[in-house]
Amino acid sequence: MSHVKPQTEIFSKGYDPQRSEGAATPPVFRTSTFIFKTAAEGKRAFEIAYGLDTMKQDESPALIYTRVNNPNSEILEDKVIGWDGAEAAAVFSSGMGAISSTCLAFLKPGDTLVFSDPVYGGTEYLFRHLLPAFQIKTKHFPAGATQEEMEALVKGDPTVKVIYLESPANPTMQMCDIAAARAIADKYSDDKRKIIVMMDNTFMGPIFSTPIKHGADILLYSATKFFGGHSDLVAGLAIGRKDLIGQAKVMRTILGSNSDPDTAWLIHRSLGTLQIRMEKQQENAVKIVEFLRKHPKIERVAYPGLPEMGDRQVALWKKQCTGTGSIVSFLVKGGEPEAFKVLDAVHHMKLAVSLGGIETLIEHPGTMTHSDMTAAEKIHAGITENMIRLSVGLEDPEDLIADLKQALDKI
Ligand SMILES: Cc1ncc(COP(=O)(O)O)c(C=O)c1O
Repeated sequence: MSHVKPQTEIFSKGYDPQRSEGAATPPVFRTSTFIFKTAAEGKRAFEIAYGLDTMKQDESPALIYTRVNNPNSEILEDKVIGWDGAEAAAVFSSGMGAISSTCLAFLKPGDTLVFSDPVYGGTEYLFRHLLPAFQIKTKHFPAGATQEEMEALVKGDPTVKVIYLESPANPTMQMCDIAAARAIADKYSDDKRKIIVMMDNTFMGPIFSTPIKHGADILLYSATKFFGGHSDLVAGLAIGRKDLIGQAKVMRTILGSNSDPDTAWLIHRSLGTLQIRMEKQQENAVKIVEFLRKHPKIERVAYPGLPEMGDRQVALWKKQCTGTGSIVSFLVKGGEPEAFKVLDAVHHMKLAVSLGGIETLIEHPGTMTHSDMTAAEKIHAGITENMIRLSVGLEDPEDLIADLKQALDKI
């Protein structure tokens, strides 16, 4: 078959209807365990799964137990790699499951992880509190840092094993320089130490940004967001080179952070509309951004590609992305009371954390998603009391603008 685009590929790749009674779409394989035909087959399945022997050319890993693998996870994993141009994927029970399991697969006590600041609140907690409790050190640079600024943290520190980017950053929308992280990882990697570049691409999502082409080794997603897309599931994904994803899967099996068949099936069901949802959500977001930028009660709008993000940010966006996405942060004139007035006054936008779904969600990062950070950390990361984060959905954009307008009038 000739090479087709991901939007076509996802309708057929990774699923053979003849193995499921001809079912046009995959059934849910709701089973905890899989029956071996013979004891020898069972023995061989474990030899491969536990790495006791290498796989022969005509072999594939057998299904053993749903914490290890399951047809619904595998079908999904085969399909989601298309957009990012990657070799392999692993699905997890949540975005945090993907992030924590993948980090632990590549870090051990004494190692250091260097990360862009800010990152999602849960990731922040993992990096600032949990990893250090296991003697894994962490240090950070501002999301928009230059190569020199990033390199200053890696140079002369032989313990650095992971450079972790979140781009655009939640909630400031700052982009990281992926090629710079790659160059640093290559410069300081040798036979004994390979520095891995991981990137959380949840905010932009898969369609408008392909960080692997710019040098990321592993992409991490909260699949709860655009992949699931309907605010009805929690899941995560790690996507990248086959050998690296294989290592992440070993950690997933032991930590028990695999997804379940029903969730994998639901994400799979959402893939056919992923691109069209993201394109339309982006179209709506652009209209809302135009409205907000002109509004007298708005101090500043943070959205990829806007000139007010600064020249370097615009240049990074142009180089790394093909779209602007549908997540917008904006600062109202005033502080927390003014921000809360807007949040309490909207009718069509739902006051809830999470993002990337078909309905518009609005929240206050400082007291909600990023409330774990200290006041000083928030100031350093640019998370101010007057900041509101918006995830634009599929409602009519004029209704959404009217909703925001009447809410801003309450200030
Ligand atoms: C950028 C980012 N990464 C990771 C996560 C964590 O994902 P999950 O809630 O699926 O564990 C989130 C959740 O909001 C997020 O915004």
